Amino acid sequence: MNITAIDIGTTKICVIIASINTKGVIEILGIGQHPSHGLKKGVVVNIAKTVESLEFAIKQAEEMAGIKIEKACVGISGGHIQSRNSTGVVAVKNKTITQYDIDRVIEAAKAIPIQQDQEILHVLPQYFRVDGQEQVLDSKGMFGVRLEAQVHIVTGAIASAQNIIKSCELAGLDVSDIVLEQIASAQAVLTPFEKELGVGILDIGGGTSDFAIYKDGRIRHSKVIPFAGNHFTNDLAIGLGIPLEKAEEIKKQYATVSPLHIQQQHNKFIDIDLGYNDGIKTIEVGLASEMLRFRAEEIIDILIDEILDNTLKNAMPAGLVLTGGGCLLPGFKEIIAQHLGIPVRIGYPQETQKNSPYTIPDALKSPIYSTAFGLLLYAINEKNFFGAHCTNHSMFGKIFGKMKSWLYDFF
Ligand SMILES: Nc1ncnc2c1ncn2[C@@H]1O[C@H](COP(=O)(O)OP(=O)(O)OP(=O)(O)O)[C@@H](O)[C@H]1O
Ligand SMILES: [Mg+2]
Repeated sequence: MNITAIDIGTTKICVIIASINTKGVIEILGIGQHPSHGLKKGVVVNIAKTVESLEFAIKQAEEMAGIKIEKACVGISGGHIQSRNSTGVVAVKNKTITQYDIDRVIEAAKAIPIQQDQEILHVLPQYFRVDGQEQVLDSKGMFGVRLEAQVHIVTGAIASAQNIIKSCELAGLDVSDIVLEQIASAQAVLTPFEKELGVGILDIGGGTSDFAIYKDGRIRHSKVIPFAGNHFTNDLAIGLGIPLEKAEEIKKQYATVSPLHIQQQHNKFIDIDLGYNDGIKTIEVGLASEMLRFRAEEIIDILIDEILDNTLKNAMPAGLVLTGGGCLLPGFKEIIAQHLGIPVRIGYPQETQKNSPYTIPDALKSPIYSTAFGLLLYAINEKNFFGAHCTNHSMFGKIFGKMKSWLYDFF
């Protein structure tokens, strides 16, 4: 059986086609990638350009795999994403908790007011409580009369989800599922041990920095911060008065956000050819790095506020895992660790457990591909190849049914 995942990012579109056999062994068949030109801050703003980029990336992956794909699991992000925890309570029907009771209590927890332009993307159970006792992860088969569930609900703008579905359809694909990007990235880079102990993940992409916390193996919190790698590049372009592509070059080749290294970069100069006969501009590298440090600290401040506002300071004993291309900026890892006072590591797609059913090709071993590879694992999990997924399947069927109906309602 073949499965496809597509990360429609602000800077690049990445398509991964894989096959999974009856023993659950996953083999990567094709990878396609193309710069993305139709998105801003994680959101599709130009369907035609998005379709064009999608078509290139899909074609490349199909040619490598030697097969034609028909549907894919895709990611979603953007400032429109909202999430919160919610609780539901029901009376147990026949004293022993069955799937029917679990479905009802999750349905009850889902009954929260949401804005008219938003729709539910994920309902992820966090824990259950039977008759007010200790939290349990699996309440099925337990005796009791009162069942309580806490769930993490993620909602997104209907229009944004529609634009993703529409772009894929125009590129010749059906969307099998839409997944919050940090949930996908977490699947690719976090170990089961980290998720159990309590860990944060921050996927710093081009348009958004997608944050989530996992504890006791379940998602505890999620938030999309609308600043990421491209904002660093824009700051440099504006601050130094140079074209965006030159700013991107300086950022990747010379800059750092480590205060110690910035010190050493003062009095270090580089000449930038502005092109179009605009001549040469001499840039002090330390000044460029200083500009980037302000942006890095802004993102860190937002992250710290999010952690403190939600009393999550003690929820990450296993530390924070950074991923996404933006985390490759030298010094970023160190200054986040310094400000948060917890261990920080860079995460990229890896075999997160012993006897992993997959081997990751070297081409995908970069933080840039965490979301795409995570989407693939998510799609495979949804097919239940690895056993129970934390999401309630019947619920997901309903959610996807709903996604389809958004499309029919609006197009
Ligand atoms: N070596 C590097 N140093 C600094 N920044 C880098 C480096 N490599 C990539 N980046 C930055 O990473 C960003 C792209 O990361 P990524 O591919 O994860 O984003 P995306 O998935 O396209 O965007 P998003 O997830 O926000 O929609 C760009 O802003 C790019 O400049
Ligand atoms: Mg991304």
